[in-house]
Amino acid sequence: MASLTASAPGKVILLGEHAVVYGKPALAMAIDLRFRCTIAPSDSVLINGWEIDRAKHPYTSHILNEHWRGGIEIETSSDIPSGSGLGSSAALCASLNTAIMAYGMEPDEEVCARRSFEAELNAQGSASPVDTSASVHGQGIAVNLEGGKPLWGISHAERRWSISHLDVPRLTLVIGHTGISAPTGPLVAKVRRYYEHSNFAKDIVDEIGSLTEDAAKALSSGDRVGLGSMMTEDHKLLSILGVSSRELDKLVQAALPYSFGAKLTGAGGGGSMIALTDRPDKVCEAIERRGGRPYVVSSGQPGAIIEK
Ligand code: MEV
Repeated sequence: MASLTASAPGKVILLGEHAVVYGKPALAMAIDLRFRCTIAPSDSVLINGWEIDRAKHPYTSHILNEHWRGGIEIETSSDIPSGSGLGSSAALCASLNTAIMAYGMEPDEEVCARRSFEAELNAQGSASPVDTSASVHGQGIAVNLEGGKPLWGISHAERRWSISHLDVPRLTLVIGHTGISAPTGPLVAKVRRYYEHSNFAKDIVDEIGSLTEDAAKALSSGDRVGLGSMMTEDHKLLSILGVSSRELDKLVQAALPYSFGAKLTGAGGGGSMIALTDRPDKVCEAIERRGGRPYVVSSGQPGAIIEK
């Protein structure tokens, strides 16, 4: 049977990371960095020409165990640095599931989002569906917020997340990648330990939730000044939860003089920050001067698709 290629975008979280694991709201948007997966049925199971090592490829192994019978050859390529906070593992899951589903069934975003979330949950131990739903759907998504067009709901343990389509107005965001790879699982586990043992941490999670609700209103009314200041406030709250780093703080501080606001995005610990700005050149220069790698991103990116 012929091979086929699917791709899926990375994402940035505008507000709400970590708190969303506890059922709080989040706002996320797909970015124009993509993960590509070419698959073909085969006699053996190969990934980029090598026999699959299940410890090194937990996401792929889970997806193949659950949804593929027989051998397969998988070739991957990615614009999204891994451990960058930009959703590389979610985009891997979304593109691989999209490719696999094309062999046996009609395309179905909801099924793909559910399967991709299950693969992340299995590999990370604890997760919300924000990254995987953003990658599958593309454009923008809101989690646990009223108002948008409902897409699907996903439950796990006692949590339920309602995912809706988010119209993201034209915004200029600059990503600053620290160059430090920080896998999501250990950071989510670190916050969980704090959350389970401290009412103060629970209060911070609640505060992130309220801030994200206010930010959704600022976003829909095009209030960049308000949205930016809430992003900067969110960065402070995430720092209290222990997921920022010296490098992230340095890039946030460098971007702030030319931005409406700036914060870490994704799991933190290293990874990336984002700045909301109308002076992207200045922000890029400032990020580069402090050792970061800048990318200017635009909204309106498609979700997971079959390319050929
Ligand atoms: C990671 O991009 C976002 C986190 O909230 C984890 C998750 O929601 O699964 C840190």
